[in-house]
Parts: sequence; C-alpha cells; structure tokens
Amino acid sequence: MGTEIQGRAAHAAAIRERAEAEMNAMGIDEAFIDRLVETFYGRVLQHPTLGPVFDARLSGRWPEHMQKMKSFWSSVAFRSGAYGGKPVQAHTGVANMSPDLFPQWLALFSETLSDIAPSLDAKAWFMATAERIARSLTLSLFYNPALDDPQRKPA
Ligand code: HEM
Repeated sequence: MGTEIQGRAAHAAAIRERAEAEMNAMGIDEAFIDRLVETFYGRVLQHPTLGPVFDARLSGRWPEHMQKMKSFWSSVAFRSGAYGGKPVQAHTGVANMSPDLFPQWLALFSETLSDIAPSLDAKAWFMATAERIARSLTLSLFYNPALDDPQRKPA
C-alpha cells in the first residue's frame, strides 16, 4: 500500500518535472505567466465588447480573478494541480455571454502573445491550449442538439 502511494507520488513528480523542462525550453516560467495574465486582462478591460462582459461580473473581485487565472495557467503548464476550480460552472450565468465572444477572446489572446511571448513555440502552446478550452467551453455552454443540423451552412 505504502509503496503504491510512493509510486504514484514519484510518477506525479516525474510528470511535473517533464512539464517544467518542456515549458522552460520554450521560455515559459511563473514570471511569464504572471506577466501574460496581467497584460491580457488589462487589454480585456479596454476591449469594447469583452471588457463590459468581464467587468460586470468581476467588478470588485478583479484581484481574486487574476490570482485564479495565474494559478489556472500555472497548473495547466506545469501540471501542478494548483488550480482546482470548475471553469464550466464559472462561465454559466455570465450576463451577455455569447458564442461570438470566444473568437474575440482568442484574437486578443493571440495579439497579446505576439507582443510578449518569449518564443514562437510559447505562443503556439498557449494558443493551442486556449483554443481547446474555448471549444470545450463553447460546446458546454451553447451546444444545442436542435441546431446541430449537418445540412446547415456555417453562418
Ligand atoms: C468569451 C470568452 C470568455 C469570457 C467572456 C469569460 C468570462 C469569464 C468570467 C466573467 C469569469 C469569472 C467568473 C466568476 O468568478 O464569477 C471567468 C473565469 C474563468 N475563465 Fe473565462 N471567459 C472567457 C473565455 C475563457 C477561456 C477561453 C478560458 C481558458 C483558456 C477561460 C478560463 C477561465 C477560468 C479558468 C476561470 C476561473 C474559473 C474559476 O472560478 O475557477 N475563460 N471567465
């Protein structure tokens, strides 16, 4: 029993070490994640459509949100398990949320990364990860089987 738990802990530590080496090779570290979150949400607040949606929900709670987003990205990048939130629930009931906000979010994230990412690989890693999560959030929040018509042409 004891050895099984030790084995699992060693396995988790090996995964974390590999993730850290992969991230560091692209120039991604905790300091960059802090900078990315600060810069990106600074720009979100200035954005004509995203800004009001975020601020209506987070007014008075921004410092908490920033901390959460840093721990979220750090968790995903370094497999640290530091973030234990529920992203789908967090986005449920955000007023004026709509599917077309996701491409705008991704475009702004991409622009931010073009400006500050330490390498092209780092930008590609953040974009691929964000696109996957955006797709999964869009499906969880907006998927409607009644509209899932294979004959329907994309808008
Ligand atoms: C149109 C796009 C999006 C909008 C308008 C949006 C809005 C929000 C808002 C308002 C919150 C705060 C919820 C609260 O604390 O009451 C939040 C939390 C969060 N968002 Fe988004 N979001 C968007 C896209 C994304 C994407 C693409 C990701 C991931 C790459 C993401 C990851 C998160 C996470 C991890 C949280 C924290 C959840 C928690 O409380 O544990 N969001 N978002």
